[in-house]
Amino acid sequence: KKVILAYSGGLDTSVCVPLLEEKYGYDEVITATVDVGQPKEGLKEAKERAEQMDVKHYEIDAVQEFVENYLHPLIQANGSYEGYYLGHAIARPLIAKKVCEIAKKENADALAHGCTGKGNDQFRFETTYRIHSQPNTKIIAPVRELNMTRDEEKKYAKKRGLNVDFEEKKWSIDENIWSRSIEGGKLENPNYIPPEEIFQWTKNPEKAPDKPEILEITFKNGTPTKINGEKHNPVTLIQKLNKKVGKHGVGRVDMIEDRILGLKARENYEHPAATALITAHKDLEKLVLTRKQLKFKKTVDQEWAELAYNGLLYEPLYNSLQAFIKNTQKQMNGTVKLKLYKGSIQVVARESKNALYSKELVSFDDKTIDQKDAEGALKYHGYQSRLTKTRQNKK
Ligand code: ARG
Ligand code: SIN
Repeated sequence: KKVILAYSGGLDTSVCVPLLEEKYGYDEVITATVDVGQPKEGLKEAKERAEQMDVKHYEIDAVQEFVENYLHPLIQANGSYEGYYLGHAIARPLIAKKVCEIAKKENADALAHGCTGKGNDQFRFETTYRIHSQPNTKIIAPVRELNMTRDEEKKYAKKRGLNVDFEEKKWSIDENIWSRSIEGGKLENPNYIPPEEIFQWTKNPEKAPDKPEILEITFKNGTPTKINGEKHNPVTLIQKLNKKVGKHGVGRVDMIEDRILGLKARENYEHPAATALITAHKDLEKLVLTRKQLKFKKTVDQEWAELAYNGLLYEPLYNSLQAFIKNTQKQMNGTVKLKLYKGSIQVVARESKNALYSKELVSFDDKTIDQKDAEGALKYHGYQSRLTKTRQNKK
């Protein structure tokens, strides 16, 4: 019997390998790591660990697909769940899909993941596993099914001779090109102030440059294409922005998050490029979309974010929402200037050939609009308030 395991090289997924052999009786465990822009050392570590455990290992490069098919729609939806830019949530369906492709190629009997029974990732993995696999494929979540704690996992890893330094791991970290999340350990006390050491992508704002920097982002049909007038491919653009924005200490979030199960969790994120892109994108929308489009899109964006958080990318509504969003993005061409300074980010200027904004119309120094034309509208502004007042006087 053969099982494919979505493998990150971390504690949870590493203990799954011997568990699947020992407790579940699989003859062959195959590990699959999907590259969604996590650090190269992480990928190397996963590969080496798989080798140590003597299992067949796959590494699948999905960075470009992640950026173009998952992150670009996310930017267009201003993707945010309670202030979290969804980087980890949106990566799971892609990772799971890639794992299913390997399962098909390997003719595997089962699919496994290392998620606990407390988090969100179990939902995101399993829903995609079920969509992309045969009905008789078994789906296994060893850590959840055996109800293991992190401590028990560490002990088991040691006992099984997994040659790793899991003992020293203070936090549970997940990282891809869009976001770095740090949770667990002492951070589980929401009243504990995160130590500076948990951050890697963002500079401590107090130690950020003393001079502010203006950064210019250009969008074409709602997709970011240039930084400071220079064209970059979609992957490089995000990598470059993470550096440029993180340097100013922008993009840190410390929040209480409502997980799918209803559990409240304390999460720390670093997502500098995401912060800059979504801040700029939202501002450009205000310049080019109508009041009614903006109002409705807020609701659509929120529904979109909820589906993305829940890993429900195959829900037909997701497609319908995407269709609406995409339609609005045809007008989204232009440039936004952001000012970065010691942890703060501010939109300071914007321009677009598709702007609905018209300086001639709105300017107090121009006669394009005859001000007297407003008079008729004013007579009826608040009309029903006056009607109510007359009614009250009558009694
Ligand atoms: N809470 C986030 C989410 O549900 C991130 C989870 C990332 N996992 C981790 N081990 N840090 O999308
Ligand atoms: C887990 O609990 O397995 C990881 C974190 C999450 O799913 O939210």
